[in-house]
Amino acid sequence: MEGTITNFLYLICISLFIIGLKKLSHPDSARTGNLLAAAGMISALIITLVTPLPGGGDNNYGWIAGGILVGTIIGLVAAKKIKMTAMPEMVSLFNGLGGACAMLLSIVEFYNHPMGAPLLSGQMITTFFALFIGSISFTGSLVAYGKLDGFLRDSLVVPAPKVVNLLLLLIILAVCGYTLVQPELNFNYVIVVLVLSLIYGVTFVTPIGGGDMPVVISLLNSFTGLGAALAGLIYGNQVMLVGGVLVGASGTILTMLMCKAMNRSLMNVIIGGFTSSGGVSAESGDQVAKVATYTDTAIMLKYAQKVIVVPGYGMAVAQAQHTVHDLEKRLEEEGVSLKYAIHPVAGRMPGHMNVLLAEADVPYPSLMDLEEANKEFASTDVVLVIGANDVVNPAAKTDTASPIYGMPILDVELAKNVVVLKRSMNPGYAGIQNQLFFGERTRMLFGDAKSSLSKLIDEINNV
Ligand code: TAP
Repeated sequence: MEGTITNFLYLICISLFIIGLKKLSHPDSARTGNLLAAAGMISALIITLVTPLPGGGDNNYGWIAGGILVGTIIGLVAAKKIKMTAMPEMVSLFNGLGGACAMLLSIVEFYNHPMGAPLLSGQMITTFFALFIGSISFTGSLVAYGKLDGFLRDSLVVPAPKVVNLLLLLIILAVCGYTLVQPELNFNYVIVVLVLSLIYGVTFVTPIGGGDMPVVISLLNSFTGLGAALAGLIYGNQVMLVGGVLVGASGTILTMLMCKAMNRSLMNVIIGGFTSSGGVSAESGDQVAKVATYTDTAIMLKYAQKVIVVPGYGMAVAQAQHTVHDLEKRLEEEGVSLKYAIHPVAGRMPGHMNVLLAEADVPYPSLMDLEEANKEFASTDVVLVIGANDVVNPAAKTDTASPIYGMPILDVELAKNVVVLKRSMNPGYAGIQNQLFFGERTRMLFGDAKSSLSKLIDEINNV
């Protein structure tokens, strides 16, 4: 009876997860979705804590309360302090801790394995799998964190990574198999699998270029979900199982969507090819970019009918989203129609631009996706490129030698005028020059995006 009630309550928590996830898919309902999923998670924790252990025994409430306290403090401080631009690093770090959790649970399970109990069982195979997945997710996420943060360089190499990874995988499989067919569990072999899996996490992620890190983080996130689901199987805990499956599935879908947005296969991302630096492509040679003035740009904007803003990573760095919205409101007073063109991988994390613009109260219908925007550029008077670079680089369409060749881009060069707001001629994430900046209809407005936009608003008020 008690088990039925617990499972019924778990079912409510699972429903909260699913409804929460559904609501996360739209900016208007995302906040409620987040709260619902969090309520589901807190309820699941409470139900698990008050449910008596199957064979009796100590609930370890003291340790659990200590863990919750420390975790809550770290989580709160991190969430408050972290800058929006450093969000991928934080996601990566937290994801790694999720992997570490699955890893530790598996170690405890092996440690508590009763003497004489059968080894070759579904339970033990699952535990090995959770140990492997959790460990690679842990060290892989730490490497991804290091690369995103910049303290681990892309120049760090694993010699012949494909061979090393395949070898490691085969040895891990062999040791797991050997351990399972022994009469008694030898904990030393578990340690060997643990160490090799931790190393595999490092050698799996190290060869991948910095530009591909978000795809890798999303992939590792799906691994962590799988690790949690396996732990749910080990403990026969439905809410853990379904929660893990939801994380695993959404991580996989996100990974696929990001690969699609970059026009790359997952294999291509894992094997490498798109690095954060050192790419070869369109040379600027002795070409000179035309420089815009605030007054000219303000006049152009004020007398335009249709303006499209293309935000990129630089808008996030400058925290210019509120000023962009102020410009939008000012231009609307002049009867100008202003919309935003959002590239799926603009910025440094999925939905980065959407989140920033939503924070600045930009109405969601003003946002256009890549396909929709590309139909609009030819009839647009002015395109304002705000801190975007790679996502508007025409080399992706024409230069087969370019590392971003094949990535769908925003065709801003079709517009009547293009004004690019950035601080210098420095390249973007892919490390390559952008021919758009030397285009016939392009003008560069150098400076920090936020201060440039403020000056433009002042000029519009004056002209
Ligand atoms: P980027 O190509 O990285 O270009 C950003 C530009 O912003 C830089 O050229 C920089 O030029 C400028 N900038 C930086 N700070 C600025 C400031 N304060 N004011 C004005 N400009 C500033 O950005 P993007 O076009 O958004 O493309 C995103 C890139 O990141 C793509 O290559 C994508 O594949 C990759 N990526 C995306 C994701 C996701 S999921 N979104 C994740 C990882 C990598 P200056 O230094 O001259 O100012």
